Amino acid sequence: MSRKFPWYDSGWLSRFVSAKEIVRRHYPERLGEFVEAFDILRTPENFREKQIDKPLREDAFQKALDTIRAIPADRLNKDEFLFMGRHKAYELPLFAQIQEAFTDRVSEEVNEQVEPSYHFLSLYSGIGSLSPHLDAPLAKWTLDLCLEQSAPWPIHFSQVVPWPEACPYGIDDWRNEIKNDPALRFYSYSLEPGNAIIFSGSSQWHYREPIPQRHEKNFCHLVFFHFIPKGTKHLVYPARWAAFFGMPELSGIN
Ligand SMILES: [Fe+2]
Repeated sequence: MSRKFPWYDSGWLSRFVSAKEIVRRHYPERLGEFVEAFDILRTPENFREKQIDKPLREDAFQKALDTIRAIPADRLNKDEFLFMGRHKAYELPLFAQIQEAFTDRVSEEVNEQVEPSYHFLSLYSGIGSLSPHLDAPLAKWTLDLCLEQSAPWPIHFSQVVPWPEACPYGIDDWRNEIKNDPALRFYSYSLEPGNAIIFSGSSQWHYREPIPQRHEKNFCHLVFFHFIPKGTKHLVYPARWAAFFGMPELSGIN
């Protein structure tokens, strides 16, 4: 599989486009059925992100802060430090409980039944930044909770867009072309600690400029809770497509 898009977390979309080519070649009569099966992962075009103030009770929020401040350094994933300036920690038990508890609220806010897919803690340092990107549909819905920060750090969201099937931007300047595309109608939010925002990362471009340098130590600690439509694991994991659709030719797609 060749990588078709330059942005972060675009592997799923590359696989989807490749899979369509395979289905068109081997099962042309089933192409419509294959594509329509994924409609549930697409986001209604009138959806807009929603800020949620204080989704946690004060004592639960304090416990979350105590938890992240006590994480040992060897528990942190450093793979994205050089290009995004952040450390990550996956699947912390307290946050798994919180995610479970958020499920009904997110279902209500996005107007469909959802289930948790995964979550992670994102500890941005003073070199934090986030290029524009669309997430894989494992993050069709994200509740982004701000835990603590040195200063408000705006995040920018586009309106909902259809999944691109080829890169619509230039290979060298795609980041600026996305940020400056007036058709995307970006809107910005600055979260205060304790507040959250729900957005559709797989259908809304989102980015952050480099973290503001206002203090000696600059940081922003967030936790991302990702949700998928209930009962769609067979769609969000490309490794399951061959078995689910009965198309062995898709088995190399993961
Ligand atoms: Fe994202």
